[in-house]
Amino acid sequence: MIISGKDLAKKIKADIAEKVPVLVEKYGRAPHLAVILVGEDPASQSYVKSKGKDAEQVGYKSTTIRMPESTSEEELLAKIAELNADDTVDGVLVQLPVPKHIDEDRVIEAISNDKDVDGFHPANVASLWQKRPCVYPCTPKGIIRMLDEAGVDIAGKEAVVIGRSNIVGLPMAKLLLDRNATVTVAHSRTKNLAEVTRRADILVAAVGKLRMVTADMVAPGAVVIDVGVNRDPETGKLAGDVDYDAVCEVASVITPVPGGVGPMTRACLMENTLECYLNHMQGK
Ligand code: GUN
Repeated sequence: MIISGKDLAKKIKADIAEKVPVLVEKYGRAPHLAVILVGEDPASQSYVKSKGKDAEQVGYKSTTIRMPESTSEEELLAKIAELNADDTVDGVLVQLPVPKHIDEDRVIEAISNDKDVDGFHPANVASLWQKRPCVYPCTPKGIIRMLDEAGVDIAGKEAVVIGRSNIVGLPMAKLLLDRNATVTVAHSRTKNLAEVTRRADILVAAVGKLRMVTADMVAPGAVVIDVGVNRDPETGKLAGDVDYDAVCEVASVITPVPGGVGPMTRACLMENTLECYLNHMQGK
């Protein structure tokens, strides 16, 4: 079974698009997402373009702010402060990574917690790990949605997450744990990685290494979620962390790249923007 993130994302976005005119009527304006991109990284440019397109598709106001690679940390922080103070902006997102001369932690901390649609602010991360109300980071949230949609029972399962980034690996592990899976976080220094991954009922690969998950690393019938987005140097096309064709033969459920996790990340970003907008409008 192949889980189409694309189809599920379409459904989620259609549900939001239906609500927006009612909200505009009630609150006088549509939700507004502001996305900042510093520099010209081609992958980031494409992500930011898709986020803007999705926002417009659901009926939000979308502002994309492109700043040159030479932008100083002070200039970026000033732009964030301006958006934080702008009462007509509900969500602020800075596309990561930022250029090396800018301190990423300072940027993440600068975004007002109540406009943090990515859920990356330390206060939000603390709330997540303490099971307090918070914004769920978009990619792990989207993956849980896909598992639910596919009818995968998470409780009691062995889940293995490869990767320990703040964006995907760590919050993914936490969300699986909260659904009563038993979770192992593996990474580039894990010894006998294949031995660990073969124990997984649910395997999430989030490392950014082309086709690193081979068929011998997957237990028969496992659920395999591919978060990787890599450029295949031979074909020039996008491909995941999972050797898709070979693992398809072993797994019971798998997500494709492209068309799997990526669209779900953006659909959840639209949901998070709606959440921040509603909190804002209801004065929470
Ligand atoms: N870079 C890769 N993934 C993400 C994401 O979810 N949000 C932001 N802001 N940057 C990213």
